Amino acid sequence: MNPISYLKTGVIHCDDNKKVLAEIPSDCIDLIYLDPPFFSNRKYEVIWSDEAEVRSFDDRWQGGIQVYTAWMRERAIELHRILKPTGSLYLHCDWHANAHLRVMLDSVFGAKNFQNEVVWYYRGGGVSATRWGRRHDTILFYTKGKDWTFNVDPVRTEYSESVMKSKPSRYDKSYRKNKVYSGYRPNPLGKHPDDVWPIQPLMPSDKTERLGYPTQKPEALLERIILASSNKGDIILDPFCGCGTAIAVAHKLDRAWLGIDISPTALGIMQRRMEKIGASVDLEGLPVTEDDLRKLRPFEFQNWAINRINGTHSPRKSGDMGIDGYSFMEQLPVQVKQSGAGRVTVDTFETAIERSGNNKGYIIAFSFTKDAREEVARVKAEKGMEIELVEVATLVNAPPDKITPELSDLFPALPKDFLGLPLPPPRSKAARPSLEELVRSDKAPRLADALD
Ligand SMILES: C[S@@+](CC[C@H](N)C(=O)[O-])C[C@H]1O[C@@H](n2cnc3c(N)ncnc32)[C@H](O)[C@@H]1O
Repeated sequence: MNPISYLKTGVIHCDDNKKVLAEIPSDCIDLIYLDPPFFSNRKYEVIWSDEAEVRSFDDRWQGGIQVYTAWMRERAIELHRILKPTGSLYLHCDWHANAHLRVMLDSVFGAKNFQNEVVWYYRGGGVSATRWGRRHDTILFYTKGKDWTFNVDPVRTEYSESVMKSKPSRYDKSYRKNKVYSGYRPNPLGKHPDDVWPIQPLMPSDKTERLGYPTQKPEALLERIILASSNKGDIILDPFCGCGTAIAVAHKLDRAWLGIDISPTALGIMQRRMEKIGASVDLEGLPVTEDDLRKLRPFEFQNWAINRINGTHSPRKSGDMGIDGYSFMEQLPVQVKQSGAGRVTVDTFETAIERSGNNKGYIIAFSFTKDAREEVARVKAEKGMEIELVEVATLVNAPPDKITPELSDLFPALPKDFLGLPLPPPRSKAARPSLEELVRSDKAPRLADALD
Protein backbone atom coordinates (compact mmCIF):
# COMPACT_ATOMS: atom_id res chain seq x y z
CA MET A 1 0.00 0.00 0.00
CA ASN A 2 1.18 3.51 -0.73
CA PRO A 3 1.95 4.89 2.78
CA ILE A 4 0.41 8.30 1.99
CA SER A 5 -2.99 6.76 1.35
CA TYR A 6 -3.45 6.04 5.06
CA LEU A 7 -1.97 9.20 6.54
CA LYS A 8 -4.80 11.44 7.72
CA THR A 9 -4.13 15.15 7.22
CA GLY A 10 -6.06 18.19 8.49
CA VAL A 11 -5.49 16.85 12.02
CA ILE A 12 -3.97 18.44 15.12
CA HIS A 13 -2.84 15.93 17.73
CA CYS A 14 -2.67 16.82 21.39
CA ASP A 15 0.11 14.70 22.83
CA ASP A 16 3.83 14.35 23.26
CA ASN A 17 5.04 14.42 19.66
CA LYS A 18 7.37 11.48 20.31
CA LYS A 19 4.30 9.23 20.69
CA VAL A 20 2.45 10.65 17.69
CA LEU A 21 5.49 10.57 15.39
CA ALA A 22 6.02 6.88 16.15
CA GLU A 23 2.59 6.20 14.61
CA ILE A 24 3.19 8.10 11.36
CA PRO A 25 4.17 5.85 8.43
CA SER A 26 7.68 6.12 6.98
CA ASP A 27 8.54 8.22 3.92
CA CYS A 28 5.31 10.21 3.65
CA ILE A 29 5.92 13.86 4.66
CA ASP A 30 7.21 16.44 2.18
CA LEU A 31 8.25 19.20 4.55
CA ILE A 32 8.77 19.47 8.29
CA TYR A 33 9.12 22.76 10.15
CA LEU A 34 9.80 22.53 13.86
CA ASP A 35 10.15 25.27 16.42
CA PRO A 36 10.82 23.38 19.64
CA PRO A 37 11.60 24.84 23.06
CA PHE A 38 14.99 26.53 22.61
CA PHE A 39 16.73 25.37 25.82
CA SER A 40 16.28 28.90 27.12
CA ASN A 41 15.62 27.74 30.71
CA ARG A 42 12.62 30.02 30.84
CA LYS A 43 8.97 29.51 31.41
CA TYR A 44 7.04 31.31 28.70
CA GLU A 45 3.74 32.57 29.97
CA VAL A 46 1.24 35.01 28.52
CA ILE A 47 -2.03 36.01 30.13
CA TRP A 48 -3.99 36.87 27.07
CA SER A 49 -6.78 39.24 26.13
CA ASP A 50 -10.04 39.96 27.93
CA GLU A 51 -10.55 36.26 28.64
CA ALA A 52 -7.21 36.31 30.49
CA GLU A 53 -6.46 32.70 29.57
CA VAL A 54 -3.00 31.54 30.65
CA ARG A 55 -0.98 30.44 27.62
CA SER A 56 2.27 28.92 28.65
CA PHE A 57 4.96 26.40 27.94
CA ASP A 58 7.99 25.39 29.87
CA ASP A 59 11.51 25.52 28.45
CA ARG A 60 13.37 24.50 31.60
CA TRP A 61 15.59 21.46 31.52
CA GLN A 62 17.03 19.47 34.36
CA GLY A 63 20.30 17.74 33.50
CA GLY A 64 21.66 20.34 31.07
CA ILE A 65 22.24 20.46 27.36
CA GLN A 66 23.00 16.73 27.01
CA VAL A 67 19.53 15.88 28.27
CA TYR A 68 17.96 18.43 25.91
CA THR A 69 19.95 17.22 22.89
CA ALA A 70 19.13 13.57 23.61
CA TRP A 71 15.43 14.54 23.90
CA MET A 72 15.60 16.30 20.53
CA ARG A 73 17.58 13.46 18.95
CA GLU A 74 14.84 10.90 19.67
CA ARG A 75 12.41 13.14 17.82
CA ALA A 76 14.82 13.93 14.97
CA ILE A 77 15.25 10.19 14.27
CA GLU A 78 11.48 9.82 13.88
CA LEU A 79 11.26 12.98 11.75
CA HIS A 80 13.97 11.65 9.43
CA ARG A 81 12.11 8.33 9.12
CA ILE A 82 8.77 9.88 8.16
CA LEU A 83 10.20 12.34 5.60
CA LYS A 84 9.86 11.34 1.97
CA PRO A 85 13.20 10.61 0.25
CA THR A 86 12.74 14.02 -1.42
CA GLY A 87 11.63 15.76 1.78
CA SER A 88 13.14 18.70 3.68
CA LEU A 89 13.34 19.67 7.33
CA TYR A 90 13.75 23.14 8.83
CA LEU A 91 14.64 23.27 12.52
CA HIS A 92 14.17 26.65 14.19
CA CYS A 93 16.49 27.40 17.13
CA ASP A 94 18.72 30.15 18.53
CA TRP A 95 22.10 30.68 20.17
CA HIS A 96 21.14 28.63 23.23
CA ALA A 97 21.44 25.26 21.48
CA ASN A 98 22.06 25.77 17.75
CA ALA A 99 25.62 24.34 17.82
CA HIS A 100 24.45 21.20 19.62
CA LEU A 101 21.43 20.76 17.36
CA ARG A 102 23.56 21.14 14.23
CA VAL A 103 25.91 18.36 15.35
CA MET A 104 22.95 16.19 16.35
CA LEU A 105 21.17 16.71 13.00
CA ASP A 106 24.41 16.06 11.09
CA SER A 107 24.54 12.65 12.72
CA VAL A 108 20.85 11.85 12.06
CA PHE A 109 20.54 13.27 8.51
CA GLY A 110 24.18 12.96 7.42
CA ALA A 111 26.40 16.05 7.24
CA LYS A 112 26.21 15.98 3.44
CA ASN A 113 22.48 16.60 3.64
CA PHE A 114 22.93 19.86 5.50
CA GLN A 115 21.85 22.61 3.08
CA ASN A 116 21.69 25.97 4.87
CA GLU A 117 21.90 27.76 8.13
CA VAL A 118 19.25 30.44 7.60
CA VAL A 119 19.55 33.53 9.73
CA TRP A 120 16.25 35.13 10.64
CA TYR A 121 17.31 38.68 11.41
CA TYR A 122 14.86 40.87 13.32
CA ARG A 123 14.55 44.16 15.11
CA GLY A 124 13.52 44.62 18.72
CA GLY A 125 14.51 42.90 21.96
CA GLY A 126 16.86 44.15 24.67
CA VAL A 127 20.48 45.28 24.42
CA SER A 128 23.44 44.43 26.60
CA ALA A 129 26.28 46.73 27.67
CA THR A 130 28.78 43.86 27.48
CA ARG A 131 28.09 42.10 24.20
CA TRP A 132 26.57 42.50 20.71
CA GLY A 133 22.83 42.73 20.49
CA ARG A 134 21.28 39.31 19.89
CA ARG A 135 19.12 39.88 16.85
CA HIS A 136 18.70 36.58 15.06
CA ASP A 137 17.37 33.05 15.25
CA THR A 138 18.89 30.19 13.30
CA ILE A 139 16.95 27.85 11.04
CA LEU A 140 18.82 24.67 10.06
CA PHE A 141 17.77 23.30 6.69
CA TYR A 142 18.40 19.60 5.94
CA THR A 143 17.18 17.31 3.19
CA LYS A 144 16.71 13.58 3.40
CA GLY A 145 18.37 12.74 0.08
CA LYS A 146 20.09 14.28 -2.89
CA ASP A 147 16.92 15.41 -4.73
CA TRP A 148 14.52 17.85 -3.16
CA THR A 149 12.06 20.64 -3.96
CA PHE A 150 13.47 24.15 -4.10
CA ASN A 151 11.28 26.76 -5.81
CA VAL A 152 13.37 29.89 -6.20
CA ASP A 153 10.98 32.16 -8.08
CA PRO A 154 8.30 32.64 -5.40
CA VAL A 155 10.93 33.65 -2.83
CA ARG A 156 13.20 35.89 -4.86
CA THR A 157 14.11 39.14 -3.16
CA GLU A 158 14.60 42.69 -4.43
CA TYR A 159 17.92 43.86 -5.78
CA SER A 160 19.63 46.70 -3.98
CA GLU A 161 19.01 50.12 -5.46
CA SER A 162 22.52 50.37 -6.90
CA VAL A 163 22.08 47.15 -8.86
CA MET A 164 18.69 48.28 -10.15
CA LYS A 165 20.14 51.58 -11.28
CA SER A 166 22.87 49.86 -13.25
CA LYS A 167 21.32 49.05 -16.59
CA PRO A 168 22.39 45.90 -18.39
CA SER A 169 23.92 48.21 -21.03
CA ARG A 170 26.51 49.27 -18.44
CA TYR A 171 27.69 45.68 -18.21
CA ASP A 172 27.83 45.57 -21.97
CA LYS A 173 29.95 48.68 -22.05
CA SER A 174 32.31 47.34 -19.45
CA TYR A 175 32.53 44.14 -21.40
CA ARG A 176 33.45 46.03 -24.57
CA LYS A 177 35.98 48.23 -22.82
CA ASN A 178 37.71 45.78 -20.48
CA LYS A 179 36.92 42.52 -22.22
CA VAL A 180 35.84 41.24 -18.78
CA TYR A 181 32.35 39.90 -18.79
CA SER A 182 30.94 38.64 -15.53
CA GLY A 183 27.84 37.23 -17.20
CA TYR A 184 25.82 38.93 -14.51
CA ARG A 185 22.43 40.46 -15.35
CA PRO A 186 19.75 41.33 -12.83
CA ASN A 187 16.98 38.77 -13.18
CA PRO A 188 13.65 40.47 -13.95
CA LEU A 189 11.95 38.10 -11.46
CA GLY A 190 14.17 39.30 -8.61
CA LYS A 191 17.39 38.40 -6.87
CA HIS A 192 18.32 34.83 -5.92
CA PRO A 193 17.39 34.62 -2.22
CA ASP A 194 20.19 34.26 0.29
CA ASP A 195 20.32 32.80 3.76
CA VAL A 196 19.80 36.00 5.76
CA TRP A 197 16.13 36.91 6.06
CA PRO A 198 15.25 40.25 7.55
CA ILE A 199 11.63 39.73 8.63
CA GLN A 200 9.84 41.66 11.32
CA PRO A 201 8.84 39.66 14.40
CA LEU A 202 5.28 40.08 15.69
CA MET A 203 5.10 43.25 17.73
CA PRO A 204 2.93 43.49 20.88
CA SER A 205 0.88 46.12 19.03
CA ASP A 206 0.18 43.80 16.07
CA LYS A 207 -3.56 43.57 15.51
CA THR A 208 -3.76 41.25 12.54
CA GLU A 209 -1.68 38.18 13.33
CA ARG A 210 -0.86 38.18 17.01
CA LEU A 211 -2.77 35.59 19.02
CA GLY A 212 -1.07 35.96 22.39
CA TYR A 213 0.77 32.66 22.20
CA PRO A 214 4.33 32.74 23.56
CA THR A 215 6.98 32.77 20.80
CA GLN A 216 4.42 32.93 17.96
CA LYS A 217 6.31 33.24 14.65
CA PRO A 218 5.34 35.62 11.82
CA GLU A 219 3.51 34.11 8.86
CA ALA A 220 5.96 35.78 6.45
CA LEU A 221 8.75 33.55 7.77
CA LEU A 222 6.76 30.37 7.24
CA GLU A 223 5.62 31.54 3.80
CA ARG A 224 9.22 31.63 2.58
CA ILE A 225 9.95 28.14 3.86
CA ILE A 226 6.75 26.58 2.53
CA LEU A 227 6.81 28.31 -0.86
CA ALA A 228 10.46 27.36 -1.47
CA SER A 229 10.44 23.82 -0.13
CA SER A 230 7.04 22.41 -1.11
CA ASN A 231 4.45 22.40 -3.86
CA LYS A 232 0.66 22.64 -3.80
CA GLY A 233 -0.87 19.44 -2.39
CA ASP A 234 2.32 18.45 -0.51
CA ILE A 235 2.11 17.37 3.14
CA ILE A 236 3.58 19.71 5.74
CA LEU A 237 4.12 18.68 9.37
CA ASP A 238 4.78 20.87 12.39
CA PRO A 239 5.41 18.69 15.46
CA PHE A 240 5.66 21.64 17.90
CA CYS A 241 2.95 23.77 16.38
CA GLY A 242 2.12 26.23 19.22
CA CYS A 243 -0.62 28.48 17.91
CA GLY A 244 -0.37 26.94 14.45
CA THR A 245 1.56 29.42 12.29
CA ALA A 246 3.03 26.72 10.03
CA ILE A 247 -0.22 24.83 9.51
CA ALA A 248 -2.21 28.04 8.94
CA VAL A 249 0.24 29.16 6.23
CA ALA A 250 0.29 25.65 4.75
CA HIS A 251 -3.50 25.77 4.46
CA LYS A 252 -3.47 29.24 2.88
CA LEU A 253 -0.94 28.00 0.31
CA ASP A 254 -3.02 24.92 -0.58
CA ARG A 255 -0.79 22.37 1.10
CA ALA A 256 -2.08 19.46 3.22
CA TRP A 257 -0.99 19.70 6.83
CA LEU A 258 -0.63 17.95 10.14
CA GLY A 259 0.13 19.46 13.55
CA ILE A 260 1.13 18.22 16.99
CA ASP A 261 1.29 20.08 20.29
CA ILE A 262 1.25 18.85 23.85
CA SER A 263 -0.88 21.74 25.15
CA PRO A 264 -4.71 21.52 25.02
CA THR A 265 -4.79 25.32 25.35
CA ALA A 266 -2.67 25.60 22.18
CA LEU A 267 -5.12 23.29 20.39
CA GLY A 268 -8.05 25.53 21.35
CA ILE A 269 -6.25 28.54 19.86
CA MET A 270 -5.33 26.64 16.71
CA GLN A 271 -8.84 25.36 16.21
CA ARG A 272 -10.18 28.93 16.18
CA ARG A 273 -7.31 30.14 13.96
CA MET A 274 -7.81 27.37 11.39
CA GLU A 275 -11.59 27.66 11.31
CA LYS A 276 -11.27 31.41 10.77
CA ILE A 277 -9.37 30.74 7.53
CA GLY A 278 -11.90 28.13 6.40
CA ALA A 279 -9.93 24.98 7.24
CA SER A 280 -11.78 22.02 8.64
CA VAL A 281 -9.85 20.63 11.58
CA ASP A 282 -9.88 17.31 13.41
CA LEU A 283 -8.59 17.51 16.96
CA GLU A 284 -7.25 14.27 18.36
CA GLY A 285 -6.02 13.32 21.81
CA LEU A 286 -7.67 16.13 23.79
CA PRO A 287 -8.26 15.18 27.42
CA VAL A 288 -11.65 13.51 27.81
CA THR A 289 -11.57 11.33 30.88
CA GLU A 290 -11.15 12.36 34.50
CA ASP A 291 -7.83 10.54 34.44
CA ASP A 292 -6.61 12.65 31.50
CA LEU A 293 -7.69 15.81 33.33
CA ARG A 294 -5.85 14.88 36.53
CA LYS A 295 -2.61 14.65 34.51
CA LEU A 296 -2.87 18.14 33.00
CA ARG A 297 -0.64 20.93 34.23
CA PRO A 298 -2.57 23.21 36.63
CA PHE A 299 -3.03 26.10 34.18
CA GLU A 300 -4.18 23.69 31.47
CA PHE A 301 -6.74 22.17 33.84
CA GLN A 302 -7.99 25.60 34.85
CA ASN A 303 -8.33 26.67 31.20
CA TRP A 304 -10.19 23.43 30.45
CA ALA A 305 -12.66 23.89 33.32
CA ILE A 306 -13.42 27.55 32.60
CA ASN A 307 -13.75 26.93 28.86
CA ARG A 308 -15.94 23.88 29.50
CA ILE A 309 -18.57 26.06 31.20
CA ASN A 310 -18.18 28.79 28.57
CA GLY A 311 -16.94 31.05 31.36
CA THR A 312 -14.42 33.88 31.32
CA HIS A 313 -11.01 33.59 32.90
CA SER A 314 -10.19 35.76 35.88
CA PRO A 315 -8.12 38.77 34.83
CA ARG A 316 -5.84 38.17 37.81
CA LYS A 317 -3.23 35.46 37.96
CA SER A 318 -4.61 32.09 39.03
CA GLY A 319 -5.19 31.73 42.76
CA ASP A 320 -5.68 35.45 43.41
CA MET A 321 -8.62 35.98 45.74
CA GLY A 322 -9.59 32.37 45.07
CA ILE A 323 -11.49 33.32 41.91
CA ASP A 324 -10.25 31.61 38.75
CA GLY A 325 -13.04 32.71 36.45
CA TYR A 326 -16.62 33.82 36.05
CA SER A 327 -19.61 31.82 34.87
CA PHE A 328 -21.31 32.37 31.53
CA MET A 329 -24.01 35.10 31.46
CA GLU A 330 -24.42 35.58 35.22
CA GLN A 331 -20.67 36.27 35.67
CA LEU A 332 -20.58 34.58 39.06
CA PRO A 333 -17.24 33.69 40.67
CA VAL A 334 -15.84 30.24 39.91
CA GLN A 335 -13.02 28.48 41.69
CA VAL A 336 -11.24 25.53 40.08
CA LYS A 337 -9.39 22.84 42.04
CA GLN A 338 -7.44 20.06 40.36
CA SER A 339 -7.98 17.89 43.44
CA GLY A 340 -10.69 17.25 46.00
CA ALA A 341 -12.07 20.16 48.04
CA GLY A 342 -12.85 20.36 51.75
CA ARG A 343 -14.15 22.82 54.32
CA VAL A 344 -11.18 25.21 54.02
CA THR A 345 -11.77 25.65 50.30
CA VAL A 346 -15.41 26.54 50.91
CA ASP A 347 -14.45 29.00 53.69
CA THR A 348 -11.91 30.89 51.59
CA PHE A 349 -14.23 30.94 48.61
CA GLU A 350 -17.02 32.35 50.79
CA THR A 351 -14.74 35.33 51.57
CA ALA A 352 -13.84 35.67 47.88
CA ILE A 353 -17.52 35.74 46.88
CA GLU A 354 -18.25 38.40 49.50
CA ARG A 355 -15.30 40.55 48.39
CA SER A 356 -16.48 40.32 44.80
CA GLY A 357 -19.88 41.69 45.84
CA ASN A 358 -21.81 38.53 44.89
CA ASN A 359 -23.99 36.12 46.79
CA LYS A 360 -23.45 33.04 44.67
CA GLY A 361 -20.53 31.10 43.18
CA TYR A 362 -19.31 27.74 41.95
CA ILE A 363 -16.47 25.48 43.03
CA ILE A 364 -15.30 22.92 40.48
CA ALA A 365 -13.30 20.00 41.91
CA PHE A 366 -12.85 16.26 41.47
CA SER A 367 -14.70 15.51 44.71
CA PHE A 368 -16.02 17.24 47.84
CA THR A 369 -15.72 16.09 51.43
CA LYS A 370 -18.71 15.74 53.76
CA ASP A 371 -17.28 18.75 55.67
CA ALA A 372 -17.37 20.84 52.50
CA ARG A 373 -21.02 20.03 51.89
CA GLU A 374 -21.91 20.83 55.51
CA GLU A 375 -20.08 24.13 55.24
CA VAL A 376 -22.06 25.01 52.10
CA ALA A 377 -25.30 24.31 54.01
CA ARG A 378 -24.14 26.50 56.94
CA VAL A 379 -23.26 29.42 54.63
CA LYS A 380 -26.65 29.12 52.97
CA ALA A 381 -28.51 29.03 56.31
CA GLU A 382 -26.53 31.88 57.91
CA LYS A 383 -26.01 34.24 55.00
CA GLY A 384 -28.33 33.05 52.27
CA MET A 385 -25.20 32.63 50.12
CA GLU A 386 -25.29 29.87 47.51
CA ILE A 387 -22.11 27.95 46.80
CA GLU A 388 -22.67 25.27 44.23
CA LEU A 389 -20.27 22.32 44.25
CA VAL A 390 -19.68 21.01 40.74
CA GLU A 391 -17.83 17.71 40.32
CA VAL A 392 -15.48 17.39 37.36
CA ALA A 393 -17.27 14.15 36.43
CA THR A 394 -20.45 16.19 35.82
CA LEU A 395 -18.61 18.50 33.46
CA VAL A 396 -17.00 15.58 31.66
CA ASN A 397 -20.36 13.93 31.04
CA ALA A 398 -22.79 16.82 30.82
CA PRO A 399 -23.11 19.41 28.06
CA PRO A 400 -20.79 22.42 28.50
CA ASP A 401 -23.60 24.69 29.67
CA LYS A 402 -24.01 22.66 32.86
CA ILE A 403 -23.61 25.63 35.17
CA THR A 404 -25.14 28.29 32.99
CA PRO A 405 -28.44 29.68 34.19
CA GLU A 406 -31.80 28.41 33.09
CA LEU A 407 -33.96 31.00 31.26
CA SER A 408 -36.43 30.73 34.16
CA ASP A 409 -33.64 31.76 36.63
CA LEU A 410 -32.95 34.89 34.65
CA PHE A 411 -36.62 35.73 34.00
CA PRO A 412 -38.56 34.34 37.00
CA ALA A 413 -41.87 35.61 35.53
CA LEU A 414 -41.63 33.12 32.66
CA PRO A 415 -43.74 29.96 32.96
CA LYS A 416 -41.60 26.86 33.81
CA ASP A 417 -42.42 25.14 30.51
CA PHE A 418 -41.42 28.19 28.46
CA LEU A 419 -39.31 27.04 25.52
CA GLY A 420 -38.04 30.34 24.18
CA LEU A 421 -39.28 33.57 22.70
CA PRO A 422 -41.41 32.93 19.60
CA LEU A 423 -40.13 34.79 16.54
CA PRO A 424 -42.53 37.50 15.32
CA PRO A 425 -44.11 36.67 11.93
CA PRO A 426 -42.27 38.32 9.00
CA ARG A 427 -43.63 41.71 7.98
CA SER A 428 -45.11 42.15 4.53
CA LYS A 429 -43.02 44.23 2.12
CA ALA A 430 -45.55 47.09 2.29
CA ALA A 431 -45.32 47.21 6.08
CA ARG A 432 -41.49 47.54 6.08
CA PRO A 433 -40.10 51.09 6.56
CA SER A 434 -38.57 52.80 3.55
CA LEU A 435 -34.93 53.84 3.50
CA GLU A 436 -35.91 57.49 4.14
CA GLU A 437 -37.99 56.46 7.15
CA LEU A 438 -35.09 54.44 8.55
CA VAL A 439 -32.69 57.40 8.18
CA ARG A 440 -35.24 59.71 9.79
CA SER A 441 -35.81 57.33 12.72
CA ASP A 442 -32.05 57.01 13.25
CA LYS A 443 -31.81 60.80 13.62
CA ALA A 444 -34.80 60.99 15.97
CA PRO A 445 -34.08 61.40 19.71
CA ARG A 446 -33.60 57.99 21.36
CA LEU A 447 -36.17 56.76 23.83
CA ALA A 448 -33.44 56.43 26.48
CA ASP A 449 -32.27 60.04 25.85
CA ALA A 450 -35.84 61.30 26.11
CA LEU A 451 -36.30 59.55 29.46
CA ASP A 452 -33.04 60.95 30.99
C1 LIG B 1 8.18 27.67 20.48
S1 LIG B 1 6.55 27.07 20.63
C2 LIG B 1 6.02 26.93 18.95
C3 LIG B 1 5.47 28.24 18.42
C4 LIG B 1 4.97 28.11 17.00
N1 LIG B 1 6.01 28.01 16.02
C5 LIG B 1 4.06 29.30 16.64
O1 LIG B 1 4.34 30.05 15.73
O2 LIG B 1 3.04 29.45 17.34
C6 LIG B 1 6.86 25.41 21.11
C7 LIG B 1 5.62 24.54 21.31
O3 LIG B 1 6.06 23.20 21.54
C8 LIG B 1 5.11 22.57 22.39
N2 LIG B 1 5.76 21.38 22.96
C9 LIG B 1 6.72 21.31 23.89
N3 LIG B 1 7.06 20.04 24.12
C10 LIG B 1 6.30 19.27 23.29
C11 LIG B 1 6.21 17.87 23.04
N4 LIG B 1 6.97 16.99 23.69
N5 LIG B 1 5.32 17.44 22.12
C12 LIG B 1 4.53 18.33 21.45
N6 LIG B 1 4.59 19.67 21.64
C13 LIG B 1 5.47 20.13 22.54
C14 LIG B 1 4.75 23.66 23.40
O4 LIG B 1 3.48 23.41 23.99
C15 LIG B 1 4.76 24.92 22.52
O5 LIG B 1 3.46 25.20 22.06
